[in-house]
Amino acid sequence: MYNVAYLIMQTPNNSEKQFSDLHQANQKRWDAAADNWAACADSRGIWQKCHEDPGLVFSPPLMPFLQDIRDSRVAVLGSGDNQAVFALAGLGAKVTSVDISENQLQHARERAEHLGLEIAFARADVTNLDVLESNSFDLVFTGGHVAVWVADLQQYYAEAIRILRPRGRFIVEEYHPVRRIWKESRDALVPEHSYYNRGPYRYLLGDDVLYKGNGSLESFEFHWTISDMVNATIDAGARIMRLEEYGESGEDWEDAPMEGLPEQFVIIAEKSALAS
Ligand SMILES: C[S@@+](CC[C@H](N)C(=O)[O-])C[C@H]1O[C@@H](n2cnc3c(N)ncnc32)[C@H](O)[C@@H]1O
Repeated sequence: MYNVAYLIMQTPNNSEKQFSDLHQANQKRWDAAADNWAACADSRGIWQKCHEDPGLVFSPPLMPFLQDIRDSRVAVLGSGDNQAVFALAGLGAKVTSVDISENQLQHARERAEHLGLEIAFARADVTNLDVLESNSFDLVFTGGHVAVWVADLQQYYAEAIRILRPRGRFIVEEYHPVRRIWKESRDALVPEHSYYNRGPYRYLLGDDVLYKGNGSLESFEFHWTISDMVNATIDAGARIMRLEEYGESGEDWEDAPMEGLPEQFVIIAEKSALAS
């Protein structure tokens, strides 16, 4: 049982400073968690094979949208274990891997070298991608539990669309937010809070992100809804081509019995041809 989250009230006047403080806290926790996260990825054994078998990383609804990316310029935002980065590189793309945590990126650099993959790495917050030029990528991919760490979803997706060329593709693949609302329980689904309560949720946790335990590291989560992510994509200047929800199994790290609930969702969008 870990510390129950509490909600922080946001006010319009201090939100920008507060957002960057919250992201700094998350960065510190991810830096501390990086060795554990890398060990988890080692035990799954996917990162060593996914450049040859991208189906280990990308689900079937996504694969048709990744068929034509040889020599494309691709950015992966919030790259974490970099399995998506390695899989996209294996499909022939020129990939830039972006993450806020230097320690996460260091593991990824070592792994890319081990696999013989040429990847560009950039340490940046997804809400401020000044290190990347506007209109410079053919595809931006993000997801696998990234939005949950980000205080300003609109700015995150706006930056993703800014770095895309006109008609470039934006792909979001995320854990389904309906799975984030439940109390810790073995056999019953009991809501801990409303689906519509975005947070921030503050926790004091240890350095294991998957199997949470009490600790002294501050962590802030944001529970964006499906409509938040759809509307942030549209507001950023992209046209949604597909929205899919899929999967219904439970995972051993989840705190409640999730079988039967949607597991993941994917947004496939295209930047407007007129946008600059
Ligand atoms: C759960 S991982 C997601 C990537 C991949 N699916 C995985 O499971 O490793 C979350 C990653 O997002 C990064 N992250 C968190 N907040 C971020 C931010 N504001 N900007 C950029 N990266 C961020 C973390 O450092 C971490 O590497």
